[in-house]
Amino acid sequence: MSGKEKEVTETSEAEIAVHWAEEDFIYPPASFIAQANVTDPSVYDRFSLENFPNCFKEYADLLTWYEYWHTTLDTSDAPCWKWFVGGKINASYNCIDRHLAKNKNKTAIHFVSEVETEKIEHITYQELYVRVNEFAAILRDFCGLKAGDTVTLHMPMVAELPITMLACARLGIIHSQVFGGFSGKACADRIVDSGSHVLITMDAYYRSGQLIDHKEKADTAVAEVAKENQKVDKVLVWQRYPGKYSAQTPMVEGRDFFVNELLKKYYGTRIDPVPMPAEAVLFLMYTSGTTGKPKGAQHSTGGYLAYVAGTSKYVQDIHPEDVYWCMADIGWITGHSYIVYGPLAICASTVIYEGVPTYPDPGRPWRIAQDLDVNIFHTAPTAIRALRKLGPDEPAKYNYHFKHMTTVGEPIEPAVWKWYYHAVGKGEAAICDTWWQTENGGFLCSTMPAIKAMKPGSAGPGVPGIHPIVYDNDGNVVPDGSGKAGNICIQNPWPGSFQTIWRDRDRYVSQYYEKYCKDPNSKRWQDWPYLTGDAAVVAADGYARILGRIDDVINVSGHRLGTKELESAAMTVAEVAEAAVVPVKHEIKGVEPDMYIALKPGISASEELAKKISQAIVTEIGAIARPRNVWIVPDMPKTRSGKIMRRVLGAISNNTDVGDVMTLANPEIVVEITKMVQGK
Ligand code: WTA
Repeated sequence: MSGKEKEVTETSEAEIAVHWAEEDFIYPPASFIAQANVTDPSVYDRFSLENFPNCFKEYADLLTWYEYWHTTLDTSDAPCWKWFVGGKINASYNCIDRHLAKNKNKTAIHFVSEVETEKIEHITYQELYVRVNEFAAILRDFCGLKAGDTVTLHMPMVAELPITMLACARLGIIHSQVFGGFSGKACADRIVDSGSHVLITMDAYYRSGQLIDHKEKADTAVAEVAKENQKVDKVLVWQRYPGKYSAQTPMVEGRDFFVNELLKKYYGTRIDPVPMPAEAVLFLMYTSGTTGKPKGAQHSTGGYLAYVAGTSKYVQDIHPEDVYWCMADIGWITGHSYIVYGPLAICASTVIYEGVPTYPDPGRPWRIAQDLDVNIFHTAPTAIRALRKLGPDEPAKYNYHFKHMTTVGEPIEPAVWKWYYHAVGKGEAAICDTWWQTENGGFLCSTMPAIKAMKPGSAGPGVPGIHPIVYDNDGNVVPDGSGKAGNICIQNPWPGSFQTIWRDRDRYVSQYYEKYCKDPNSKRWQDWPYLTGDAAVVAADGYARILGRIDDVINVSGHRLGTKELESAAMTVAEVAEAAVVPVKHEIKGVEPDMYIALKPGISASEELAKKISQAIVTEIGAIARPRNVWIVPDMPKTRSGKIMRRVLGAISNNTDVGDVMTLANPEIVVEITKMVQGK
């Protein structure tokens, strides 16, 4: 496909992104600066390209190593970077054991049930230690798992999730947590790809006031896995209420086991953490990309943990006395890095909230903040939009004080940013708009909260040690302040970055490094800029405004969905001939998918069929992927070479100008579809 043709056949979010005017700077409150972990601008010099890669020793030194590394960065297998080579470390030890001497009585995890009348659970570091050890005993002695094996977790937002993750890490077992909201089918795909034979789940959890049967998804997943000739030997089922089974689905004899029953046998067992090479895989996190199949971003132990510990301390500004709440889901990378590994590595108290932010009303988060005296808050624009819409005056009713707030996952509109700052933050908090991705392990761009002023709508410059650069399609550098958008890349590797795509190095290289590689045989990191897949405009002051994806990824409420994944889900319905999905702007979700369908000859459209297609998407992927609408059209707008013009469909869905369609093979269809969608 020629570059030009590619441009017109794809709808990127950048094309429909709102073009905001530059906003004025807002300076962090003096009270924040007075207490911040990093106030000295020389941090940027310490982490300059001249001091690369040794600057990252500063982060690695926040951890406790069994053996210190001999090589900071090994580039011999470029672009698969190896960090802290020769080092031996255990992530579970770093997040738990090493804190016990001074902090065993400190709360590690505050678990907040969605049911407001239920008591908040405060799990101390000592209790976390006990529970992780006992669960690790099940993994090792009951399941026979060992370092290097993979297990799949499909768990909701409960304290048992980090307990499970840390128990895996203790033994060097690679965990792959699948977002709890994903369907059993989506879970199965990830079980197969990761090669897991053990699935860990929970019977039920609360969502919007309902105790949902989650175990049924495990049954679907195991059945789907069997179709791929792989076997799940054991399903470990945590109970939302220990000792009581809260799901309707029966347990399968010999395959399904209640964790709380198995635990009785391992009471008091202690499992020594296994010293792992820094480069050992800590976990997989599946994410959507340009092709249909989700890919497993493979994260390391030493580099990853160093990076999330460092950025938790420097960017999140977590101090020992803080109460830190990240309202993301642990099923996504944000939760792994900034609910579990980062905060626990630096001995913070981290809050886990089970449910929906607006349940039972939009005052809920602020009551939790008030009751736990949370002072660092971290969430996504989609949640901020929903809370703003449903309860704009709620924050003022509660007595809490944030010193620091984070936003992550999507571009935040300046108006929403300002509500976050004034209403939620009461003008007292520094805001970090953190831009990064599943593949990155931790933040790429953000202001340093006590050093750089905030600019609503702009993520900010690269965080210390991250050096962004913008290229145009031909590889020319787009200079800062040119007002032009381009493909934002990172010039240098960093320790938090994924090592590769699980079992697919070729895809790793082609998708992230090929485009701007200066020499495919080079072993120098300087020749391998990392392609993020986002478009951005960088202002003269170095602040990046992220416009959205340049590839076929739709970001719904901060959840990454591949257009191809959605389309192939629709194609599972026998009547469907062609499917095309486009992002359409949504007040709260940012965008949502709009699905266009052409049917096989002889089949007529009906509401029933549209419903069936919508349901197929929910079954294949999960409710988060449910389309706004399924438009069954007589034909797709196509180029003469037969390619579906998603750009045109995107314009119709968003009520924007469809542009010149006369070169299409079937321009008349555009009028027809417009009438159908817009009613005119
Ligand atoms: C988008 C989430 C604008 C971006 C940590 C990226 C953002 C994708 C921001 C990754 C932000 C994330 N401003 N856009 N602050 N943060 N994005 O893998 O398009 O779920 O490529 O990682 O979300 O989503 P992912």
